[in-house]
Amino acid sequence: MSDFEHVFDTPPPGAAADWTIPQDWDAYTDVEHQTWVTLYERQMKILPGRACDAFMKGLDALDLHGGGIPDFRKMNAALQKLTGWTVVAVPGLVPDDVFFDHLANRRFPAGQFIRKPDQLDYIQEPDVFHDVFGHVPMLSDPTFADYMEAYGKGGARALALGQLKNLARLYWYTVEFGLMETPQGLRIYGAGIVSSKTESVFSLEDASPNRLGFDLERVMRTLYRIDDFQQVYFVIPSIESLLAETTKDFGAIYARVKDQPDLPIEEVLAADKVFTRGTQAYARAGGRFAKKAS
Ligand code: PHE
Ligand code: CO
Repeated sequence: MSDFEHVFDTPPPGAAADWTIPQDWDAYTDVEHQTWVTLYERQMKILPGRACDAFMKGLDALDLHGGGIPDFRKMNAALQKLTGWTVVAVPGLVPDDVFFDHLANRRFPAGQFIRKPDQLDYIQEPDVFHDVFGHVPMLSDPTFADYMEAYGKGGARALALGQLKNLARLYWYTVEFGLMETPQGLRIYGAGIVSSKTESVFSLEDASPNRLGFDLERVMRTLYRIDDFQQVYFVIPSIESLLAETTKDFGAIYARVKDQPDLPIEEVLAADKVFTRGTQAYARAGGRFAKKAS
């Protein structure tokens, strides 16, 4: 979202005023479909028992299986029936106001392109694998579907109030990197995690990161990093509780948060519900770039 550089300020040639482009599914090459299959198969070895039930159910319901890059026309027919959401193709990241407007209307903008075979583990900009495999299964959950629409509406408001920074942190720590508490243990629902082979394991099992109970104002104040594994994950009790928290009027919350300092990523507060107090060993060793051997 807003932390990335946008390549364009206006829709690029071929894109509509709302930045959408045709998916042009027939134009994907065999190599591109194979990239999807490779990524899909890797994740399916890791995600059962790690991803939350809603995610696994959504994958199944939408039939996002290993045949290659999904055809949005077919996927949308199924998704629309479940929750009224559709996926629209975009060339890459879109401006914040455009992004929020799509969400507010139950349209999820997904990158049309797929990463190159030498970028399986790390890409700068979200591609169709991250956007569709990562995000779309959760959009088939009715409660999460409502949350995402509400987020889009809240985005326009945050923009008008100059509080986008705080709202973007909520997106980051829920939609992208959220964990959930279940009777079976912690589970992943964040798209940035479920679409990453390494972070799917790290987020749940590594001793390094903090895992803290979700608190709306706390999350709005917490810095985050976009270039490596997270140093803190926030745990929600359920999707219903996330939606309930965010149904609150954020006007008063923004006013309070505005006057409080940002919280460093590693900080654990006395008020935090601590699932894991991380060692931060991974981050201190230099993170992704120090662990070339692994
Ligand atoms: N309730 C928020 C507001 O008043 C809107 C919102 C809902 C934001 C859900 C994020 C997620 O601005
Ligand atoms: Co994403």
